[in-house]
Amino acid sequence: MLLSSYAGAADKLAHVTILATGGTIAGSGATSTTTVGYTAATVGVERLIAAVPELAKVADVKGEQVFQIASENMSNEHWLKLAKRVNALLAQPDVDGIVITHGTDTLEETAYFLDLTVKSKKPVVLVGAMRPGTALSADGPINLYNAVLLAASQEAIGKGVLVAMNDQIHAARDVTKTNTSTPDSFKTPELGMLGYIQGNKPYFYHVSSRKNTADTEFDISQLDTLPQVDIVYGYANVNPVALNALVASGAKGIIHAGVGDGSLANSVKTGLVAARKQGVLIVRSSRVGQGIVARNGEANDDELDFVASDTLNPQKARILLMLALTKSSDSKQIQRMFYTY
Ligand code: SIN
Repeated sequence: MLLSSYAGAADKLAHVTILATGGTIAGSGATSTTTVGYTAATVGVERLIAAVPELAKVADVKGEQVFQIASENMSNEHWLKLAKRVNALLAQPDVDGIVITHGTDTLEETAYFLDLTVKSKKPVVLVGAMRPGTALSADGPINLYNAVLLAASQEAIGKGVLVAMNDQIHAARDVTKTNTSTPDSFKTPELGMLGYIQGNKPYFYHVSSRKNTADTEFDISQLDTLPQVDIVYGYANVNPVALNALVASGAKGIIHAGVGDGSLANSVKTGLVAARKQGVLIVRSSRVGQGIVARNGEANDDELDFVASDTLNPQKARILLMLALTKSSDSKQIQRMFYTY
């Protein structure tokens, strides 16, 4: 049971395990003004913890180096290994919460994968940094402090996997990286972030209404691989070669990141229809970044036997489709999952 709600609030501290995976939060640059062109994933978890002695005031912290990579190299196999480790740790009575330090480039994807596969209501918080630890005004130490404080808090229990960046709390499903380099890069535009961390305390104002963690139907405990699902990007004068190559390479699902409301150019629609006839699941998503992709809106999904992505961006639709395909190949069931998670 968690006894501390915020720093210094209780005599017994919550037990939080920090799982380190690399990224800029563990990065270093040549000079204090190097905020781009540095090297990610050079500093180990013990040094990350030692750099923030204030952590000891908010939680009893342990560290584990799970990977040491830049997050563009995060793979399905990394995700399966990480989710299994998180589930094993959270099953222990002496672990109250988990913090995962991660590169920001694919942080939102790992967060959503865990949101769908962690089987616990205990807090899981992902955190990164936009500046390496060697930079002036590095954001990693305060982000890590906030993430540990959040993972140790009663308030974070049952809220799904959370992302703590720039003093803000976001839901894994809806957060996205919006800027290549500024510290305020992580946002949940339109649907809204969940809250703030301020004055050593988390403040929640919203919760995600979508099912997550212990309430999902996905079980990765026996899986070593995930079905191949790839993303095809829509643009003017689109060339169908990429789509056709991905289908030929064995994709079991395609996320079409269409223009506008998931519109399909004629040159690509032919290939998508042919792929569906071969059994490949097709999800219509959008490259726009906000809004619902309407079922039977810009394409007749009923007739084409396609799935609409709802508000999931293409990279998160890919994650849900991979997991959905481990349960069903029925497009109606998969559409239900897209309206559930
Ligand atoms: C990465 O994603 O590993 C590099 C970029 C970052 O962490 O900000």
